[in-house]
Amino acid sequence: MEVVIGPGPELGRLAANAIEHLVRAQPDAVLGLATGSSPLAVYDELARRHAEEGLTFARVRAFMLDEYVGLAADHPERYRNVIEREIASRVDFAPSAVRGPDGLADDLVLACAAYEEAIAEVGGVDLQLLGIGTDGHIAFNEPGSSLASRTRIKTLTRQTREDNARFFGGDVDQVPQHCLTQGLATIMAARHVVLLATGRGKAEAVHQLVEGPVSAMWPATILQHHPHVTVLVDDAAASRLQ
Ligand code: F6R
Repeated sequence: MEVVIGPGPELGRLAANAIEHLVRAQPDAVLGLATGSSPLAVYDELARRHAEEGLTFARVRAFMLDEYVGLAADHPERYRNVIEREIASRVDFAPSAVRGPDGLADDLVLACAAYEEAIAEVGGVDLQLLGIGTDGHIAFNEPGSSLASRTRIKTLTRQTREDNARFFGGDVDQVPQHCLTQGLATIMAARHVVLLATGRGKAEAVHQLVEGPVSAMWPATILQHHPHVTVLVDDAAASRLQ
């Protein structure tokens, strides 16, 4: 695990560098996209490079990490819409090149299985962007998640719903209770994982991720077993590292 400590805007550029390097070498690469605040600087930088430097995503395929269950198709916080707004509409992905778990499916279990199959069909994810929750979740694999888990339905913890209430007008009751999320084994199958974390609120989770014992109670710690992980953190998020 490689840990890089630097200022926030620089972290976004470093993650964008990794993506650009991959996409220029392998134009049909498969990206894993995260939502939330952490990847926003990366998406801004990729959009800039697309507009100003000709970086193209025309043949890239992308898979989202997770999705809320039951949010209306046009809800602005539905992750499919967030990804569209923050990155897909700002670069040149082909139509339907970006896929996510279907949180509105009639059969959610079937939708999870179909999602795993879709990732496998394209040969897996080359580079997975990740954030980390204050409780150590990655995607929506909350504490206690099986380290061998695959895409499935999960219940969000109160902590995560409170953390995400800022996207729902500060009202935790508006945050859905359930989600579909890639599992920890799904994420571990990506060939390169790039995790971003900023702010003091992430310090304990980053400490556990890098220095804690591998435990389902801090799900991100499974990444210690991954052969190629880059952790990009600012000073505040690194403040509990030894
Ligand atoms: C989002 C996701 C979550 C977030 C995490 C951190 O797709 O899977 O694991 O990465 O909750 O969120 P932010 O970046 O908003 O602090």
